[in-house]
Amino acid sequence: MEQNVQEALSPTQVTGENGAFYLDVIQGLTKEFKTLPSKYFYDKQGDRLFQRIMACEDYYLTRCEAAIIRQQREQICAAIQNGEDSFDIIELGAGDGTKTVHLLDSLARQGKSFRYMPVDISGNILDELTGNLLAQNPELNIQPLEGEYFQMLDQAVSLSSLHKVVMFLGSNIGNMPPADALRFCTRIRQSIRPGDRVLIGFDLVKDPYLIRAAYSDQQGITKAFNLNLLQRINSELGADFDLDLFDHYCSYDPLTGACKSYLVSQRKHTVTFPNADIHFSEGECIWMEISQKYTLSQINQMAVDSGFEPVSTFTDSKGWFADVVWKAV
Ligand SMILES: C[S@@+](CC[C@H](N)C(=O)[O-])C[C@H]1O[C@@H](n2cnc3c(N)ncnc32)[C@H](O)[C@@H]1O
Repeated sequence: MEQNVQEALSPTQVTGENGAFYLDVIQGLTKEFKTLPSKYFYDKQGDRLFQRIMACEDYYLTRCEAAIIRQQREQICAAIQNGEDSFDIIELGAGDGTKTVHLLDSLARQGKSFRYMPVDISGNILDELTGNLLAQNPELNIQPLEGEYFQMLDQAVSLSSLHKVVMFLGSNIGNMPPADALRFCTRIRQSIRPGDRVLIGFDLVKDPYLIRAAYSDQQGITKAFNLNLLQRINSELGADFDLDLFDHYCSYDPLTGACKSYLVSQRKHTVTFPNADIHFSEGECIWMEISQKYTLSQINQMAVDSGFEPVSTFTDSKGWFADVVWKAV
């Protein structure tokens, strides 16, 4: 049964630092099929857990993309530059930047003049990234931008008229359904000019067992990552989720390429917010995240449909992951 969101809110709760967070959470939990926005995963503890997920044996995505970038960095650097010697690199959802650093190193060694602008909603991970990069290369021209993707993209683009390279790595694009991913790419295209480039990491369709295993690791780190959002809601919004009452479930549908993570209520119970009660039945799920998988032809179609021309596709030796370069037309 859907609750009226406004009824669940007091005016003081929809304003202030956590107002948008509160509104998004209550909106998601009062839908007929409960959901929570995955962008809230990344507080300090969420950042730490995501770094542990990336190091997991089953989470092949980071290893595959790291191999692509390490082994094909010269070709990737050539594809993103469009022959320009000076340019801006804007990385959306940069995270800890452990893969990007190889590209930045190559460009610096080639004597290119570039400014690196990592964008992330998590100030914590941006501080870590900036500290690490400057420790390795104190000469790096870096301008971190903390905030939402498009607010920060527009700010970054307005800083100069140089050639732009927009990067979106780590299968971040998979954290939205395909129609939203298309809108996202179209929105990037609207912010940049013809000739500018994007570099996007897509996870590819493959053996469904491998995909499901990547999101259901045996050590329970993915489960802890999902439960951490409930913990964050408790501490920042004053709710009383009992984390022991939720288990983690992941499904993958080979026909649609959608891999979805859920938290499953283990029994009937009620979670209380300062101004709302959220009821759970036994077995009821909160949809936490989508990790969409693509074929190469779907990726090329998305490029064309969003106003780009595919330039290069870089895959790992197993063909599990692709980093693609598109040119804005
Ligand atoms: C899946 S991680 C990927 C990190 C990195 N790109 C990589 O490949 O390792 C997603 C990152 O995007 C950031 N993020 C998620 N939603 C965001 C949003 N709406 N605006 C800005 N950053 C966001 C998160 O804080 C997190 O650091």
